[in-house]
Amino acid sequence: MLTAEQIQNNWEEFCSNIQLHISSPRKEKLLEFYEKYADRIMMMPAAHKKEYHNSFPGGYVEHVNRVVRCSIKQSKLWEEEGADMSTFTNEELVFSAINHDLGKMGNEEHESYIPQTDKWRKDKLGEDYMFNKQVPFASVPDRGLFMLQSHGVQYTFNEMLAIQTHDGLYDEANSKYLKAFMPEQKPRTSLPFILHQADLMAARIEFEREWLPKFKNSVPPTEKNFTLTKEAKKSTKDKALSQLESKGLKDLFDKL
Ligand SMILES: [Fe+2]
Repeated sequence: MLTAEQIQNNWEEFCSNIQLHISSPRKEKLLEFYEKYADRIMMMPAAHKKEYHNSFPGGYVEHVNRVVRCSIKQSKLWEEEGADMSTFTNEELVFSAINHDLGKMGNEEHESYIPQTDKWRKDKLGEDYMFNKQVPFASVPDRGLFMLQSHGVQYTFNEMLAIQTHDGLYDEANSKYLKAFMPEQKPRTSLPFILHQADLMAARIEFEREWLPKFKNSVPPTEKNFTLTKEAKKSTKDKALSQLESKGLKDLFDKL
């Protein structure tokens, strides 16, 4: 869980990424968009289930900021290893990272994730949130891109491709872009791969932070492992064979 101060600081980092990396007049359009939905986005979780990542108030912005930082770091690694950095700009990299999960916000009227009303699911499954049935289905990338265009925020072809495929091959729908056999059908820029790596890295770190301490504290030390000793294996086999009546079957299993 984040404190009110952390949520506020994360929001400031989020807005300063726009100020710093996005050029005018798109910068102003994007800031206007995020100011309009500030109250909703600032408090959003990154996922509706605890099993995923950052499923707590403010988790979305915390995740997006991490993806922005990881994207910048990943792109340096790609550059050092010889990727063609002329195929995308720094603005495209940061714009894609800032908006990659925007579709999670829901639509103009309704939020996607609302507090769970089913007590059983909340207690037993740890679902603090549930999907809002008032929001018609769309994939996260499709909805995010729709929200941007419907608020007059334009995006480049590279940004469209990166946002659309940010889940990599975890989303089968991306196969058409990422599993292409013909060279001319492969992405002409490494941007989608850099964003995917950054998102994967951020989500994994958030998973570790949430779950590894729980596993450490809840697993009782085992005195014995469950591998059968040679003697135990033999007595189990003898016991099983003694229960077989057919001689043929007994001979068959005895050879195993
Ligand atoms: Fe993400």
